Amino acid sequence: MALLKTTKLLKYFGSLACVYYVDLEFEEGRIYSIIGPNGAGKTSLLNLISGHLAPSSGEITFRDRKIDGLESSQVSQLGIGRSFQLNNLFPALSVFENVRLAVQSRHPGRYNFFSNIGAYREVNEKADAIVDKIGLSPSSAKQAQYLSHGDKRLLEIGIALATDPALLLMDEPTSGMAPEETVMMLGFIRKLALEHTIIFIEHKMNIVMSISDQVIVMNQGRVIATGTPAAVQADPEVRRAYLGGID
Ligand SMILES: Nc1ncnc2c1ncn2[C@@H]1O[C@H](COP(=O)(O)OP(=O)(O)O)[C@@H](O)[C@H]1O
Ligand SMILES: [Mg+2]
Repeated sequence: MALLKTTKLLKYFGSLACVYYVDLEFEEGRIYSIIGPNGAGKTSLLNLISGHLAPSSGEITFRDRKIDGLESSQVSQLGIGRSFQLNNLFPALSVFENVRLAVQSRHPGRYNFFSNIGAYREVNEKADAIVDKIGLSPSSAKQAQYLSHGDKRLLEIGIALATDPALLLMDEPTSGMAPEETVMMLGFIRKLALEHTIIFIEHKMNIVMSISDQVIVMNQGRVIATGTPAAVQADPEVRRAYLGGID
């Protein structure tokens, strides 16, 4: 059984189809990357999966449950976490407070401080564990605005981890990163993959090729190839879409 499945997924903006009849299956425990030229529809596809966009037609199922049409907050509570291309943090709050807020707000019933005596401690422990997992314990008390670019991206992922997602969606987690930060993120994604199925959008081909189990190539809203990194790299249509190759 696929963890996530899209069937004839279609999204129009006016007359432009940014996602065009996309059929994909994602299996649990794997790393998938989505590549393709700018405007290919990669971010729109993630937005459809995470409930930030509603499809024009087609279906999305997560663990055999239909999720298209749900609000993004409902999708996240079902176990799909999402990090964005741009930072989405509270700059004046500390690392810990950013994570704690995410933990609390994404489990509104479970962590109601008025009805659950242990909730305050539970939330703090959970937030601490996430800060530790993203490697930011030494900066836990630092305001988010003073973090390096790479650490902001890590914190952003920490926020996506607040719901213990089975599936983690990341939009260009290494964008704007210096080479050494990129290497750090690569190691971190590998670590995350031990506990989460991962779908991420990535432009840096060395990263895509070194850590993906499967690569999905989009162009003009369509999926033009899926397969192992080696198979996709050798695909003539993919090479055409990239005007001369992706090595
Ligand atoms: N909210 C929107 N309204 C109108 N057009 C949009 C919107 N979001 C994306 N698009 C268009 O959809 C196409 C795909 O965009 P996007 O999914 O961001 O591509 P990618 O992430 O692959 O660069 C682009 O032509 C873009 O201009
Ligand atoms: Mg994009």
